[in-house]
Amino acid sequence: MGDVMPPLTRRVRVTDIKLKKQRGEKIVMLTAYDATMARLLERAGIEILLVGDSLGMVIMGEETTLPVTMDIMVYHTRAVTRGARKALVVADMPFLSYQASVAEAIHNARRLLQEGGASAVKIEGGFPVVEVARRLVEVGVPVMGHLGLIPQSVHQLGGYGQQARAPEQAERLLEEAKALEAAGVFALVLESVPAEVARRVTETLSIPTIGIGAGPYCDGQVLVSYDAFGLYDEFVPPFVKQYARLGEEIVRAAERFAEEVRLGIFPPAS
Ligand code: KIV
Repeated sequence: MGDVMPPLTRRVRVTDIKLKKQRGEKIVMLTAYDATMARLLERAGIEILLVGDSLGMVIMGEETTLPVTMDIMVYHTRAVTRGARKALVVADMPFLSYQASVAEAIHNARRLLQEGGASAVKIEGGFPVVEVARRLVEVGVPVMGHLGLIPQSVHQLGGYGQQARAPEQAERLLEEAKALEAAGVFALVLESVPAEVARRVTETLSIPTIGIGAGPYCDGQVLVSYDAFGLYDEFVPPFVKQYARLGEEIVRAAERFAEEVRLGIFPPAS
């Protein structure tokens, strides 16, 4: 298994990600929120680190991603870019930081690239954000799109259920994907949509799709690292595969530490 993912030999760029689709190579992305995790994931050969606003839930303990602010995103993005030397770091633009005006979106994207050190930003939504995506790309900010379940709209969607199940919703999602591609986004996250919908979008677009709960036909896959490693057990989405149970490991280690301190075993007498 150790050889499946070659180590990153040089800095991954947005253009490499686009090329991967042409070469039929799968793209792997995981979320990272701090320098230590960024270093570890990079050692595992993960080529895209997403500083997701999911940090609102897994780091801040909020119920949704909505309380995440620009200052918080800049802080975590800076930490991740300090840890990651080669992976492509993409930072989420948080709730309502890009919709009010193109000027505000550019100002906030500037912060993520200049202060945070990210190489690209991710924005959620379809037609309502196409113009913002186009302008960001025009001024030199690489943009990743995000369609399907868009967690920043959780209140409007009425929860975290699967999207684009009805044919007309699937049709709209495809049109929005095409519009985002035409606006210049370099990759598109598809979250919680039926596998056949994701397959159609993936086959239609020339930019890569990166799925989460969207079946096997996307050009790449992303998971929230805290889900994938079994660190966050408040809510585990049904599509998540836990590749480790680090939460349980941490509890066991903390219990051993506590026991040894209480018994006077740690630290040992010289
Ligand atoms: O915020 C996040 O972690 C995300 C992923 C679920 C794609 O947007």
